Amino acid sequence: MSTRDREPHERRRAPLAHQGGRVETRGDERVARALEAALEASADERDTLTHGFHAYPARMHPRIAAVALDAFAREDDLVLDPFCGSGTVLVEARIRGLDSTGVDLNPLALRIAEVKTDRRDAESRERFRRTLLDVGARSEARVRARTYARAPLSREDASWYAPHVLKELAGLRQEILAVGDERDRRALEIVMSSLLVKLSLQRADTTERATDKRIRKGLSTEMFVRKGEELVDRWEALDDACPARSPAPELLWANAADLPRVQGDPFGLVLSSPPYGGTYDYVDHHARRYAWLGLDPEPLRRGELGARRRLRDGRDLRTWDAEVVAFLESLRRVVRTDALALLLVGDGQLGERRVDAANQLAGLGPDAGWAPLAAASQLRPDWTGREPRREHLVALRAVR
Ligand SMILES: C[S@@+](CC[C@H](N)C(=O)[O-])C[C@H]1O[C@@H](n2cnc3c(N)ncnc32)[C@H](O)[C@@H]1O
Repeated sequence: MSTRDREPHERRRAPLAHQGGRVETRGDERVARALEAALEASADERDTLTHGFHAYPARMHPRIAAVALDAFAREDDLVLDPFCGSGTVLVEARIRGLDSTGVDLNPLALRIAEVKTDRRDAESRERFRRTLLDVGARSEARVRARTYARAPLSREDASWYAPHVLKELAGLRQEILAVGDERDRRALEIVMSSLLVKLSLQRADTTERATDKRIRKGLSTEMFVRKGEELVDRWEALDDACPARSPAPELLWANAADLPRVQGDPFGLVLSSPPYGGTYDYVDHHARRYAWLGLDPEPLRRGELGARRRLRDGRDLRTWDAEVVAFLESLRRVVRTDALALLLVGDGQLGERRVDAANQLAGLGPDAGWAPLAAASQLRPDWTGREPRREHLVALRAVR
């Protein structure tokens, strides 16, 4: 099938929960209106560019990033996303020709962001596609010949796959590792990563529960090739959207609460979605993936902010407040004196205690070098079945 025969990605629906509804605003009116427009833009469900290529929990809605950048980024601003996850802000910065830096403590996040922000011209895409088909053909041949390959997994990890799927994936990985071009090889690993949960016995990315799946021999390889072709199409859309000057983002594996000092111009705009208090355990979301890719999740296990496993009780609010102060102070140290920070935050859930995230930032910001400027808030469904929570886009201005 040629890439032209397929549905354009724009028609697919993004898996982003959105409830819409009234947006409440406060603070500086002009800024608040722009924040409101950004939140409202999340009603748009098109899955464009490379955004929806790989599952990532609590991805920022691309339209929020887009509208916020259009309203607040100046041409010469260096944009920082200290919790960049799979790179939504970085993709949107790239298609606007903005310099950007993405930081995350999850090594997988950076690998996904690297692929999603990779600008490939037609020649590079064609070379990748040929390599993809070649890897697919070799993997198929392995399945037919029943060639043995060892999966780099613990017993517990291996038990998440039907034996024939595990064997096929192990062979596919060997073929990927044999690819000489590093850029292509790293992208192919992320193509495989995007399918691992689907091919495992895990029900979905958002649950650790197992379910029965019937996956016939050869299907893993077929899905891999299809997914790789999808990436080529998405890269084409990204390339078309990029202006002539469109710098690749810098990607940094670091703790946002302890950011390394940067050389040259410090950042003028922070646009980010920090973890929501007591809501996710990001490290566990990708449990199926680290070992296949040889990634070390331990720094994230130790340093993850807002982690549900640590904030289980209303009394943990002091810990959560201290974590928020730590990253605000860390951010303040690397930005320009007139910098603006736009933070998309959801209300925290510490056991039975709801924490209003916008109030928390407004209360803690000033001591950490950030004055509250404006905020816009909107209700979002709560996937734990509790009352809907509010999501806020908060603007802070650097002070001191
Ligand atoms: C809400 S998600 C960001 C999603 C991202 N905006 C996207 O669109 O994919 C929060 C991110 O914070 C990261 N994170 C958690 N603790 C961190 C820390 N101490 N330093 C840096 N990143 C951290 C998680 O790995 C996760 O990727």
